[in-house]
Amino acid sequence: MTDPQIVLTERVQQALARAFGSEHADADPLIRPSQFADFQANVAMSLAKRLGRSPREVAEAIRAELSEFPGTVEVSGPGFLNITLDDSWIAAEAGEMLADPRLGVTTSTPAQTVVIDYSAPNAAKEMHVGHLRTTIVGDSLVRLHEHLGNTVIRQNHLGDWGTPFGMLIEHLLDIGEEAAVAQLEAGMGTEYYQAARAKFEQDEGFKTRARVRVSTLQSGDPATMRLWHLFMDATVRYFNKIYALLGVTLTDADIAGESMYNPMLQKTCDDLESSGAAEISEGALCVFPPGFTGSDDKPLPLIIRKSDGGYGYATTDMAAIRYRVHDLKADRILYVVGSDQALHFRMVFAAARMAGWLPDAVSAEHIQIGMMLGKDGRRFKTRSGESVKLNDLLQEAVDRATAAIAERGYDEATQKEIAHAVGTGAVKYADLSVSHDSEYVFDFDRMLAFTGNTAPYLQYAQARIRSIFRRGEVDPATATGPIALGQPAERALALQLLGFGAVLEQATALSEPHRLCAYLYATASAFTDFFEQCPVLKDGVEPATRDSRLALCALTLRVMETGLGLLGVPVPERM
Ligand code: ARG
Repeated sequence: MTDPQIVLTERVQQALARAFGSEHADADPLIRPSQFADFQANVAMSLAKRLGRSPREVAEAIRAELSEFPGTVEVSGPGFLNITLDDSWIAAEAGEMLADPRLGVTTSTPAQTVVIDYSAPNAAKEMHVGHLRTTIVGDSLVRLHEHLGNTVIRQNHLGDWGTPFGMLIEHLLDIGEEAAVAQLEAGMGTEYYQAARAKFEQDEGFKTRARVRVSTLQSGDPATMRLWHLFMDATVRYFNKIYALLGVTLTDADIAGESMYNPMLQKTCDDLESSGAAEISEGALCVFPPGFTGSDDKPLPLIIRKSDGGYGYATTDMAAIRYRVHDLKADRILYVVGSDQALHFRMVFAAARMAGWLPDAVSAEHIQIGMMLGKDGRRFKTRSGESVKLNDLLQEAVDRATAAIAERGYDEATQKEIAHAVGTGAVKYADLSVSHDSEYVFDFDRMLAFTGNTAPYLQYAQARIRSIFRRGEVDPATATGPIALGQPAERALALQLLGFGAVLEQATALSEPHRLCAYLYATASAFTDFFEQCPVLKDGVEPATRDSRLALCALTLRVMETGLGLLGVPVPERM
């Protein structure tokens, strides 16, 4: 493990044990990057109280036990430990990282089975920007977990069942199968839904047909099921177009929509009722998980079966959580869903714990996705107030990227490839680079800027490193060093690169891809400083210095490429 923060944590913990006894061996040394040294450890402050000694005394005692340390340790202020690593240690670690195909990133032991529920658009409506964000954040979490060696099971919990399908199928019969399929494949789901809805409200005959169709659908009538499949297949083909455009890893095999749970719902209710977890209240079957109360201080129900006997969203989620724990054998379940569903998931998790379906050893987490806002600070919409079609949105991003690189003189095929990478990469990165639960303003100009914490800036940084190798006619794979650190900018870059493994672990454990974004941005900035201050290919650069700097370029390139890959942001060869 090359990451300095992790290495230092271990070393300081060993020193703590030697100085104060083994019961302190797993105290957190609180190592943080510092402006006065490479790192600062603040553990002496918190430990002093417990030991009844002064923080400075405690800090001195730790320092005394850090004698065989690859750097210098100073006690400063009231009891901070300022830690500066030796250049030779940083250089050797960076060299090891470069020689390691995994870049020093270890795999989780034991590997976990992680179920990730993400994307989950609703079939009756257009896939909208909200689902764009759950799709992009979820897909990055998938990539991170797989990279760390966990087994990921993707679950695309499509909204593909329920009473609206009565009117949707009747509308399909009205306009004809071919026309319906064409419309759905083209991403006109919202228009389709609105047309069906309008008839449902205005036309009594249609309304009756739609109601009858709901029951024939629920009874599994083969002719109706064929129409439902026709509708769903066309809709999924449209979703797949968007996934392909975005380079998202979801496939048809990952679809586990609401309809899949339909055959389990009755048993779900029966089991909840007979185990005593659910009870009948005002005709409905409800779970009252402890700690949830409404505005009137009355216990809040999670309704499992409505008083008319119908099942709902919560019923399906109760069936789904049991399936994920029991059948999929999940250790961890991530629900990447809008933050407006926070209460729903808290209640579902609590109800599942009550029922004994979610053991303590399994964690269920709602990864809340904040709303996407327009520049006016309101929910993101078109000028005419409709929701924005994803296809159009992504096309506009690609068009703008095409315009931005038009002057660079690439042939048409290359230009197309770069524009696609930059346009879709910009949209994806904008979703990922702010913490997933905060709202954010969708702004083409900002996300497509070539400066700042954006995809184009990072893509450009890695493309520029490739161009250094092209100009020097060096294959990056042969740039193996050895690395030696002279200039402050090369030392800072090397130290920054060593933090890669730790940031991947953190981003994965906390489900926060924005930490990886911040890290890659800092890495690209450190590289820019290095490149300005440390000539690589210029005449007069000593061969050994040139080799060392080329090795740093190669290591930066691999970190950037791997990191962007884990975010699902494409990396163009040149830009
Ligand atoms: N289809 C739902 C929506 O668009 C999201 C489903 C999320 N997953 C779940 N297990 N409830 O709001």
